[in-house]
Amino acid sequence: MKRRVVVEIDLQALVRNYRKIAAHVKPMDVLCVLKANAYGLGVAAYAKALVEAGCTQFGVAEPYEALELLKVLKGRAGIEVQMLSSVLPDEIPEMVKAGVILPMTDLAEAKLVSAAAVKAKRTAKVHFKLDTGMGRLGILAKDALGTIRAVKALPGLDCEGIFSHCPMAYEPKDPFTAKQIKLFTSIVAACAKEGIRFKKVHMAASDAINNFPETAKAPFTLVRTGINLHGSFDPYGRKALKVEPVLTLKTRVAQVRELPAGTTLGYGRTWCLNAPAKVATISAGYADGLPLALTNRGFVFIGGRRCKIVGRISMDYTTVDVTDVPGVKAGDEVICFGKCGRDAITPDDWAALKGTHAYDIICSLGTRVQRVIKA
Ligand SMILES: Cc1ncc(COP(=O)(O)O)c(C=O)c1O
Repeated sequence: MKRRVVVEIDLQALVRNYRKIAAHVKPMDVLCVLKANAYGLGVAAYAKALVEAGCTQFGVAEPYEALELLKVLKGRAGIEVQMLSSVLPDEIPEMVKAGVILPMTDLAEAKLVSAAAVKAKRTAKVHFKLDTGMGRLGILAKDALGTIRAVKALPGLDCEGIFSHCPMAYEPKDPFTAKQIKLFTSIVAACAKEGIRFKKVHMAASDAINNFPETAKAPFTLVRTGINLHGSFDPYGRKALKVEPVLTLKTRVAQVRELPAGTTLGYGRTWCLNAPAKVATISAGYADGLPLALTNRGFVFIGGRRCKIVGRISMDYTTVDVTDVPGVKAGDEVICFGKCGRDAITPDDWAALKGTHAYDIICSLGTRVQRVIKA
């Protein structure tokens, strides 16, 4: 029996996006961010396809994601998995044993990682995480040099990297981001003056890759990309990379009915037919990830045509005006987002209607949405 709602993942498009990003930032290395199960889409297929395409570095948010990724990529040589944000004290021994690259957010944490590495008779690779303006995690810029010096003196650590993150890089020429970059590079330069050099220096995520090309040049050596792999962007800013959508969300028609003028549709009776209409009820709702914000505003493709959503999105069903589409019947395919001939609806379009970003749309696809890999 087929699942009612599926998201098709075009792995060739994913690989083309990865290659475009890699070519754009060459000779920088590219770390692919596959946190939250590859933004909810299924880390195994993403990771394997990206490794085949030449990616060797991956970023995750927390330890279970790191272990899962290592399991998926077991036996592949030269793969590095990095926790990007923080590691909690009780997670450190297992992460060190697993060989996960860890973020260093303060000296206390570094001491725990050092002790765990010494105990396990291993060297733990670490990257200093500097807070240059994100205001979330990491070593404050004013403490950076002192902390780096102190951590460098600890045993069992390979301090191979230093990185930071930007909250506003979607704004081209944003002065705050420009200041962050200057601050970060000045710290890297001050370290170099003391003979402290890093193999990996990174700051750019998708936004900075698109809007701050200086973050893909020396002294940087690496960029981190997540949302662009899926073919989506932050809603603002320059979209320098010509990446393509990877995802198609599909469902099917549950019922088609001819309804008289005056009929109201769905909860809240937010839509009233002002003329007789043919309405298809499709088998997907907000539990599948269709934002309520599509109510009376969004579109889907049925029978090769763009059809308007009429009535409030409910948990499992959505009503669509198919008056002008001949022959629609129960079981017919519906493209919620994806390509239809020359037309397309993207997660970015939904994000615009919801007043959010594509991350929110992609990460909100429901658990009953089947992830289908198109190799
Ligand atoms: C530290 C860090 N680097 C990189 C990324 C990837 O960002 P994007 O998906 O915008 O490329 C994230 C995602 O939030 C992140 O937290």
